Amino acid sequence: MFTRILLLFLTFFFALSPSSARPPPFAMRISCGARENVNTRPTNTLWFKDFAYTGGIPANGTRPSFITPPLKTLRYFPLSEGPENCYNINRVPSGHYSVRMFFGLVAEPNFDSEPLFDVSVEGTQIYSLRSGWSNHDDEQAFAEAIVFLTDGSASLCFHSTGHGDPAILSIEILQVDENAYNYGPEWGQGIILRTANRLSCGAGKPKFDEDYSGDHWGGDRFWNPITTFGQSSDRSLSVEASIKQASVAPNFYPEALYQTALVSTDSKPELEYTLDVDPNRNYSVWLHFAEIDPSVTGVGQRVFDILINGDVEFRGVDIVRMSGDRYTALVLNKTVTINGRTLTITLHPTNGSHALISAIEVFEVIITESKTLPDEVRALQTLKSTLGLPLRFGWNGDPCVPQQHPWSGADCQFDSNSSKWVIDGLGLDNQGLGGFLPNDVSQLRHLQSINLSGNSIHGVIPSSLGTIASLEILDLSYNFFNGSIPESLGQLTTLRRLDLNGNSLSGRVPAALAGRLLHRASFNFTDNAGLCGIPGLPTCGPHLSAGAKIGIGIGVSVAFLLIVTCLVCWWKRRQNILRAQRIAARDAPYAKARTHFSRDVQMIRHHGQDHTRTAAESGPILLS
Ligand SMILES: *[C@@H]1O[C@H](CO)[C@@H](O)[C@H](O)[C@H]1NC(C)=O
Ligand SMILES: *[C@@H]1O[C@H](CO)[C@@H](O)[C@H](O)[C@H]1NC(C)=O
Ligand SMILES: *[C@@H]1O[C@H](CO)[C@@H](O)[C@H](O)[C@H]1NC(C)=O
Ligand SMILES: *[C@@H]1O[C@H](CO)[C@@H](O)[C@H](O)[C@H]1NC(C)=O
Ligand SMILES: *[C@@H]1O[C@H](CO)[C@@H](O)[C@H](O)[C@H]1NC(C)=O
Ligand SMILES: *[C@@H]1O[C@H](CO)[C@@H](O)[C@H](O)[C@H]1NC(C)=O
Ligand SMILES: *[C@@H]1O[C@H](CO)[C@@H](O)[C@H](O)[C@H]1NC(C)=O
Ligand SMILES: *[C@@H]1O[C@H](CO)[C@@H](O)[C@H](O)[C@H]1NC(C)=O
Repeated sequence: MFTRILLLFLTFFFALSPSSARPPPFAMRISCGARENVNTRPTNTLWFKDFAYTGGIPANGTRPSFITPPLKTLRYFPLSEGPENCYNINRVPSGHYSVRMFFGLVAEPNFDSEPLFDVSVEGTQIYSLRSGWSNHDDEQAFAEAIVFLTDGSASLCFHSTGHGDPAILSIEILQVDENAYNYGPEWGQGIILRTANRLSCGAGKPKFDEDYSGDHWGGDRFWNPITTFGQSSDRSLSVEASIKQASVAPNFYPEALYQTALVSTDSKPELEYTLDVDPNRNYSVWLHFAEIDPSVTGVGQRVFDILINGDVEFRGVDIVRMSGDRYTALVLNKTVTINGRTLTITLHPTNGSHALISAIEVFEVIITESKTLPDEVRALQTLKSTLGLPLRFGWNGDPCVPQQHPWSGADCQFDSNSSKWVIDGLGLDNQGLGGFLPNDVSQLRHLQSINLSGNSIHGVIPSSLGTIASLEILDLSYNFFNGSIPESLGQLTTLRRLDLNGNSLSGRVPAALAGRLLHRASFNFTDNAGLCGIPGLPTCGPHLSAGAKIGIGIGVSVAFLLIVTCLVCWWKRRQNILRAQRIAARDAPYAKARTHFSRDVQMIRHHGQDHTRTAAESGPILLS
């Protein structure tokens, strides 16, 4: 019984071919600005709405190119919302992905200019839209890159360059094979391959892998059609015959790609393709062949060299020999450094034959940027919310990368120790900020300088600031900080400038800071509610315990009682004197001695303004 179940299981297992045993690749497609999910024809592709997304403004769009997906809406990001805007897509399984973004134009008459902006993926800038992109009916309406996503999310950012509002039509995140486009030892997680161009030679129409019924693990690549490399010296070739070795790992190229080709003719046996590129970058070139010319029947009949910018990269390429047969796919790849502005691929026949090619892919090799230390990113995000940073600051994506677009107000430095970017300066002076300074600011532990001068920040100065050991400059002047200066600031031995003037601070300046005044440091504590304890400020009252305060309270009460008693005595005595005078009027000899005395008392009462002195002079008399 048990054996039979096992057998059944084994049969079932072997019935599945290895490729169908693999789960389908992760795919996420977003129709930007859409309020409902959209299905597009002819492939019934599902695009998710992004209505829950809060940044930017959804609008109706026009599609600048006929290859863009037929989506009606887009999302654009006005500069007032900040220079960096991002889509952070969560729950993306760790893996290797083709990431593609199509751009659109806002369908409103007052949006006449095409926006120019930069695009980054996971903090690495991959693309800059160039002037005129919306007039080209080719690959310029989108950016596409092959990238490793390893932190469970995908961060795609659009960086304004001051020319119009970035407008995004769609986003696709399509999983590809772990080894897709592995070109050699330098390839890996530190590399992004940006598609510079992808050509299907001899094809008449633009096609996606999907249109070619390609494997989903291919990442639904877009193939630009090309029917001639120019000068009409080449001709297209197309067959229906099936092609061997086409849809294989890791790249799963669609079979149909090899069913068309461009072949050179007698008038010019060479094939030459030139692409404009950015200088001083590395490009990975992938070339596709299949011998589909019926006139070539065996090895040695078509032999050519492949040159890139004049250098022979492949010598004596014989498609039938290298692929093993006719109607069999052959893929060659080469990564080269290009110094000039063009990349030219030349197929040069060496045996009196003609050159043939099925497809060309060119990728720019981009080294991924290191990101900012996550603790510091979190601290800046806390700061962004507690200080109520205005929208115009942006502060989306990574603070330090792409290096071309750091957050304004945050100064970055590369920390070779951690191989991450860190924040070494915070300059948010005179920005109309309110709120309070959180304790978390001390997570920015590489800070050398903080300037928050001229805002409306309330609350106390966080004592955690004293743990930022590298702090040299702290300018919190002209805010509404209250409470006392934290003792911990005294621990900052490198502090050479401390501006706390123009706040509502009170209490004693920490002794450790007061001592530092003698050195070269420049501190300013003026214009506060009640700071004390250093030269130039009031002296502080004695430092009193609760018991001492009670003691003083009792002392003051006793003194008060004493004075009251004395006054009462004096009053009574005066009454006695007056009575004595009245008696003296009747009994002169008795009163005589007292007359002089009563005059003194009257003098006290008449010289009111000089009361104290006279009273003091007459004091002994009063007491006598
Ligand atoms: C987009 O166009 C539809 C009609 O096609 C219209 O109902 C809608 O109001 C437009 N949306 C915007 C934001 O202009
Ligand atoms: C790319 O070419 C290298 C040799 O230059 C080869 O080792 C590698 O397997 C090729 N990659 C693919 C995916 O075919
Ligand atoms: C190009 O590749 C070479 C060799 O792999 C490398 O030394 C160089 O830094 C790369 N250049 C760029 C711009 O990536
Ligand atoms: C050139 O072609 C001839 C047949 O046309 C063949 O015999 C010869 O081996 C080829 N040479 C090379 C170098 O492939
Ligand atoms: C580098 O890191 C180590 C351990 O993380 C630490 O002890 C050391 O102080 C750091 N050095 C610098 C210069 O930051
Ligand atoms: C901080 O910013 C203010 C206003 O911009 C400036 O006047 C001040 O000099 C800055 N403080 C320091 C320490 O540089
Ligand atoms: C500081 O001001 C806030 C109001 O902004 C107040 O709630 C708090 O009690 C004050 N703290 C001190 C120590 O005066
Ligand atoms: C300290 O700040 C006050 C204003 O609050 C200013 O008048 C004074 O010049 C400053 N002192 C120094 C030494 O910068």
